[in-house]
Amino acid sequence: MSTAPPSNSQASMPLPAGFPSPSQGELVMKVIPMPSDVNANGDIFGGWVMAQVDLAGSVLPARRVKGRMATVAVNEFVFKQPVRVGDILSFYARLRRIGRTSITVAVEVYAERYSAQGQYMKVTEANLTYVAIDEEGRPRPIPPA
Ligand SMILES: CC(C)(COP(=O)(O)OP(=O)(O)OC[C@H]1O[C@@H](n2cnc3c(N)ncnc32)[C@H](O)[C@@H]1OP(=O)(O)O)[C@@H](O)C(=O)NCCC(=O)NCCS
Repeated sequence: MSTAPPSNSQASMPLPAGFPSPSQGELVMKVIPMPSDVNANGDIFGGWVMAQVDLAGSVLPARRVKGRMATVAVNEFVFKQPVRVGDILSFYARLRRIGRTSITVAVEVYAERYSAQGQYMKVTEANLTYVAIDEEGRPRPIPPA
């Protein structure tokens, strides 16, 4: 955990150990889980976190794909720490690979605990792959940048 704000716009301030540097990651989404998102343990349901990561991961590929795309694979997904109601979650993404029709993205999620604002803890990391698709749902080439 660190007291440094993980904001790209505050790159001059120290970043937490292991935190993506501004050149490696972009803040693509922030969200706060609500009581309706909890599991039987009282923590946030993993499926809810996965859905948010899927949305966050799609932001950078969408800029390149310029049209329809689909998630083809969740290549890796690690729940490192529980997420709790009221946490402010920050989703950082970076492109890992651009193929012919697919783009793979790394997503890291940091939580500011409800009762510890300004302190950041990595709660989730994942790699996901998105495929550009045409109107019939078939893979299509990624347009040139
Ligand atoms: C996405 C989909 C169109 C891809 O069709 P496909 O016939 O598997 O396509 P291909 O085998 O030609 O693979 C397309 C690309 O995906 C990549 N890919 C396929 N499976 C993959 C996997 N398990 N992990 C990583 N990349 C994968 C391929 O490497 C290829 O990338 P490249 O062109 O950059 O080299 C099809 O699998 C599909 O419709 N899946 C359902 C998508 C969906 O409903 N997602 C959830 C809601 S968005």
